[in-house]
Amino acid sequence: MKKILIVGAGGQIGSELTSHLRKIYGANNVVASDVRDSLNFAIDGPYEKLDVLDATALAFIVHKYSIDSIYNLVALLSATGEANPMLAWKINMGALINCLEVSKNFGCSVFTPSSIGAFGNTTPKDNTPQDTIMQPNTIYGVCKVTGEMLGNYYFERFGVDARSVRFPGLISNVALPGGGTTDYAVEIFYAAIRDGKFTCNVPKENFMDMMYMPDALDACVNLMEADASKLIHRNSFNIASLSFNPPVIFEAIKKRIPSFEMDYNIDSVKAAISSSWPNKLDDACARQEWDWAPKWDMDAMVDDMLLAIRKKLGK
Ligand code: SER
Repeated sequence: MKKILIVGAGGQIGSELTSHLRKIYGANNVVASDVRDSLNFAIDGPYEKLDVLDATALAFIVHKYSIDSIYNLVALLSATGEANPMLAWKINMGALINCLEVSKNFGCSVFTPSSIGAFGNTTPKDNTPQDTIMQPNTIYGVCKVTGEMLGNYYFERFGVDARSVRFPGLISNVALPGGGTTDYAVEIFYAAIRDGKFTCNVPKENFMDMMYMPDALDACVNLMEADASKLIHRNSFNIASLSFNPPVIFEAIKKRIPSFEMDYNIDSVKAAISSSWPNKLDDACARQEWDWAPKWDMDAMVDDMLLAIRKKLGK
């Protein structure tokens, strides 16, 4: 039986991965942790307040619950990272290295997300290959590339079962993302329902990979459950499902809310970051090595998001 620790459970991914993993493995086998005192969605199973930068506290929890798998979801996102690069390095790398070290010492497997942000201006933009040039222009991307290399290093050097996917912008309706370049693709839904109009901070021509959260949750579990002997890659797999620019998502919402309007007020940091990221990743290796196959297309995602956010906002 798996005993899982989620580190950073209060964020955009953790707020949904916690209940997803508890449904699969049983609530008592999934320990949620975060720097916050408590998380209101994590009350059906064990919760620990944890500053993951405290390696001793992390080891104590891993030992206390006999943890064998860690999902490390701690990260400052791309735009926030540019506002405070040293803090991003300290948190993103500190969380990862502590998770890898404790996994080495206690024999845990580790999942840690990489990102489309691991790529930069010199990477091929369309059908971005699995193995290609990785020269990111952000501290977030530098942390992601370093993290991928560390994951592979700990696997090869110490046998730590470290695995990872390069997440696109994640679209979800439970916890908001924060400080990411792809956040507009979530914010647009709230604005459409609440205000009937949206001011977009990303340039209209910039396509980026995106994914609906249910597919992202499946990616985490399916990769961690995959037969290790079939994995040629580990850290980190390209995965893809949706790719759009602001006008495409705007039109998809406007089809359902005809009065919806959008204008632009470009954030120069997000403009530069989004221009440097790929338009669409080639995810053939994930499909071949662990049967990655997303289920949500644009129309299904937009319908589901509008339904969920209408309910949430009582509109
Ligand atoms: N969603 C992240 C960001 O925009 C990318 O992984 O920073």
